[in-house]
Amino acid sequence: TEMIDKEVVIIGSGYGGSVAALRLCEKGIPVTLLEMGLNWEKSGEKFSPMINPGHSAAWLKTKTIAPFFNLFNLDKFTGTLDRLDFEHIKVWVGRGVGGGSLVNGGMAVTPKKEYFKEIFPNLDTEKFYSHYFPLANKELKTNVASEEFLKDCHFYKFNRVGEEEAHKAGFKTVRVPNVYDFNYMEKEYKEEVPRSALAGEVIYGNNHGKNSLDKTYLKKATATGKLEILDLHQVNHISQNPDKSYTIDISVINTKGEEIQHKIINAKKLILSAGTMGSIELLLKSSAKTQLPIDENVGKEWGNNGNFMTGRNWVKAFSGGTGFKQSTIPVGGIDHWEDKEHPFFVEIAPLPMGLNVATALYLMVNKLKKFGEVKYDLKAQKLDLNWDQSHTAHMKDNAKHFLRTMNNANGGTRSHILFHNGFGADVCYHPLGGIVLGKATDQFGRLNGHQNLYVIDGSLIPGTIGVNPFVTITAIAEYCMEEIIKKDFV
Ligand code: FDA
Repeated sequence: TEMIDKEVVIIGSGYGGSVAALRLCEKGIPVTLLEMGLNWEKSGEKFSPMINPGHSAAWLKTKTIAPFFNLFNLDKFTGTLDRLDFEHIKVWVGRGVGGGSLVNGGMAVTPKKEYFKEIFPNLDTEKFYSHYFPLANKELKTNVASEEFLKDCHFYKFNRVGEEEAHKAGFKTVRVPNVYDFNYMEKEYKEEVPRSALAGEVIYGNNHGKNSLDKTYLKKATATGKLEILDLHQVNHISQNPDKSYTIDISVINTKGEEIQHKIINAKKLILSAGTMGSIELLLKSSAKTQLPIDENVGKEWGNNGNFMTGRNWVKAFSGGTGFKQSTIPVGGIDHWEDKEHPFFVEIAPLPMGLNVATALYLMVNKLKKFGEVKYDLKAQKLDLNWDQSHTAHMKDNAKHFLRTMNNANGGTRSHILFHNGFGADVCYHPLGGIVLGKATDQFGRLNGHQNLYVIDGSLIPGTIGVNPFVTITAIAEYCMEEIIKKDFV
């Protein structure tokens, strides 16, 4: 076992961890970033498309783990996409340097001001909308596709059909910003550069075009010369020392997931950015194993951000369906959030399987009516999530209303080929909460009862934010780090 001393350690290289790394490094503070997944850029490995899954497709699995069509066998490898299976819900997460930004659809959505205020009554809403959200969007390189391009590009037929049908059904649609570089995509379309979004790459990583965190925050942080990134470093648990520093127990793994070295790092300050599920697990597990003191609110106010997947079949079947070739990057949404009876937001999602299955896929974001709670089962050594159909019943009602309205106006049926009965109540891409800002932590992410332990990631958001969450996670991380650096790093 190797023992090392460090000043500041961050666990996890997703949105929270990347913001923390950049802001500390910029101030000249040396940072060590531990990431269990692979540093893809450094490794020279390529990301694979959905229809030809390779090394990047799954985290140490022998079969693919997409939400549907898992017909592919795999070699066990530290891939980019992982799935945590609970009894009534499956939670997908990204692994690797860049975290969720490697596998996500890149939709960069700023939440509605009113809803943000409702969820975070103690934050300065005006400052968020005038400063932290614009800052997050600038650093993340959020951009919008040109209408000209979307109108003609045959890879966006699925979106045109989706919007047309939504309008016919009386719904309002909105253009959704993204971090995928649409200028690059236009060049892809003209075949001037290698194709990525137009070649079926997304949930197993993009080889080009997408401004994932390794191309934005982490790149800038690395350029300071102050950032050390240690990939394939899986943190097992942490403990607190009498001098209020932390000891981090780490398994260094190979790409087959086998431990090749055991490492102990002592850190004066520790930032947990392992993502909602990862940070909750580290705290609960460490409390059970090393008696790490944790606040009683850890694990509470967890939510799926109202995620509910659904689909329709025979969408414009006779006019060529939604297209054989589809861009993997969504650009359209249905905004039904203001409706009193059925408030929801719907992403018009692509289904880039290379088949014209005459199917439309939708990812709904609903409100949350009931929180879940996460616990740690020490005996089974895994997380336990209190979540069942009672949490998603109103989301299913919304999905029924949405599909009925769409089908009445346009024809079509619920998609039974995608989901059992057409409803994917168990699909969660946006796990949030469990270490809620101002509850388990103070107003800036300092874990209650600790001086040198911080939580900076999606777990700070109490279960729901009404839109895809990474812009909010980034903005909150910026807000917390500004204060923490000012007060705790003098
Ligand atoms: P994040 O999960 O990004 O990063 C945590 C990191 O910590 C990971 O790299 C993980 O490997 C690492 N880690 C965990 N435990 C560890 C341990 N014990 N030791 C070492 N490292 C550890 N959002 C959005 O806004 N727009 C979108 O279009 C989409 N689309 C989408 C698609 C899919 C398929 C998924 C799975 C998710 C999305 N999301 C999304 C969600 C978005 O990606 C997600 O909310 C953020 O990545 C969460 O950011 P965090 O900083 O909380 O953690």
